Amino acid sequence: MVERLQGDEGDEMTILPLIETNEQYAQNLIPVADKLLGWLSRGLGLEDGEMKQGLGGEDLTYMLKINYYPPCPCPDLALGVAPHTDMSAITILVPNEVQGLQVFKDDHWYDVAYIPNALIIHIGDQVQILSNGKYKSVYHRTTVNKDKTRMSWPMFLEPPLEFEVGPIPKLISQDNPPKYKTKKFKDYVYCKLNKLSQ
Ligand code: OGA
Ligand code: NI
Repeated sequence: MVERLQGDEGDEMTILPLIETNEQYAQNLIPVADKLLGWLSRGLGLEDGEMKQGLGGEDLTYMLKINYYPPCPCPDLALGVAPHTDMSAITILVPNEVQGLQVFKDDHWYDVAYIPNALIIHIGDQVQILSNGKYKSVYHRTTVNKDKTRMSWPMFLEPPLEFEVGPIPKLISQDNPPKYKTKKFKDYVYCKLNKLSQ
């Protein structure tokens, strides 16, 4: 369904419902994700497609979440999202211009600078597992703002729920034994949400 509206300047604007916009956005992210996963594979001495293959190949799912953080009268006492790592393989996030995302490194929380039109990429838990710990999923949180509403649109790239994810066998050797169990993504999600050991 496409709706056409008259813009302020008399020009015709096309308004797409959220579902279609989301689908188009996901379609446009496929080559971006392929490149990112290709580079991550190369960084481990693998062929370009191996990381994606370890995540379900063409069945990789793209799940959009919309975060809405209204102004908070006491920003020092509250967080937008508590510290966590994403369960996804990678997360591709677009924020609005209000500062809020922070990442943890060397015992410090660092603000992630807002760069117009830039995508923020998080390494998630599934890439950490595939790489047997070589790539670390990023620990991050969000703060809230006293006067401004912050929004962000993360797209979580995840294996299908029934797909088994574990360290890529080629990376495993006697000197580098598997650090993670191989398990269905749905079981990983269940354990993480219920704070059970993996
Ligand atoms: C998340 C998240 C960060 C942000 O939704 O998992 O970390 O910038 N969001 O809103
Ligand atoms: Ni997150």
